[in-house]
Amino acid sequence: MPYNEALRSLKKIITTKDGSQTLYSSEFDECYHSTNDGALNETLQKHIIPAFTLLSPKNKIVILDICFGLGYNTLATIYYCKLHKISTKIEIISPELDEALVRGLKDFVYPEEFDMIKPIIDQLSQNLHYKDEQFNIDILIGDARAILPNIEQKIDIIYQDAFSPKKNPLLWTREYFEMLRGLCNDDVIMTTYSSATPVRMGMWENGFKLYTPPKSSVRSGTIATLGSLELEFIDMELKLERNPDAKSLKDSEYQ
Ligand SMILES: C[S@@+](CC[C@H](N)C(=O)[O-])C[C@H]1O[C@@H](n2cnc3c(N)ncnc32)[C@H](O)[C@@H]1O
Repeated sequence: MPYNEALRSLKKIITTKDGSQTLYSSEFDECYHSTNDGALNETLQKHIIPAFTLLSPKNKIVILDICFGLGYNTLATIYYCKLHKISTKIEIISPELDEALVRGLKDFVYPEEFDMIKPIIDQLSQNLHYKDEQFNIDILIGDARAILPNIEQKIDIIYQDAFSPKKNPLLWTREYFEMLRGLCNDDVIMTTYSSATPVRMGMWENGFKLYTPPKSSVRSGTIATLGSLELEFIDMELKLERNPDAKSLKDSEYQ
């Protein structure tokens, strides 16, 4: 059966509010993107624009994209750099469990903004790797929890974009964020759509400082760093004083 038919039978294609397409996963009972915010719009507003606006200047940027899925975060990073003529060298490391999904992405209908990077999409889908003078991208097939300990690079940006804590809790626990912390440069920018207290607790208990994302057209989330940012600070000590029952998610609850 051609891949697109197989894809349709396992995962439903959904057109989101900005016209870009995403998938619904019956396995996780969740969409890959917010249908209201729009797949491309959400990607740019929640992850790429805040990360590139807040990151201090670097000669090279290393990005951890959790998890690759349809690749919007990685692809929109390339699109954003080309659009804004950002020539910094960029390395992207992206774990993904679902190899069949990635292999089929050459046939996925992306927004026209990605037309100019279609050859990159095809190479990533075919080789799980892409390299040119500016970008070096690796999709690492497997469980992100098993992959993270083998990453040797120090990370500057994390797109924390797993399925939700309710559907995929092991990618949101205190122990998971401990692994991420061990990989990060101090001025790391971690972006996520989640503003759930247990998620924030897990980040904060590992020394991340938390901030409210700059105002945008999409639902808010959280920005985390090990340094400090000129954004609205989220005072987790105060939150804990007001809600002593607030707890991070723990591996032991899900294994
Ligand atoms: C919300 S989607 C990612 C959305 C992605 N940023 C995009 O642009 O499509 C979550 C992805 O995580 C993958 N996944 C789920 N559990 C995983 C795990 N333990 N390790 C690696 N990937 C995982 C799923 O296969 C899915 O592709």
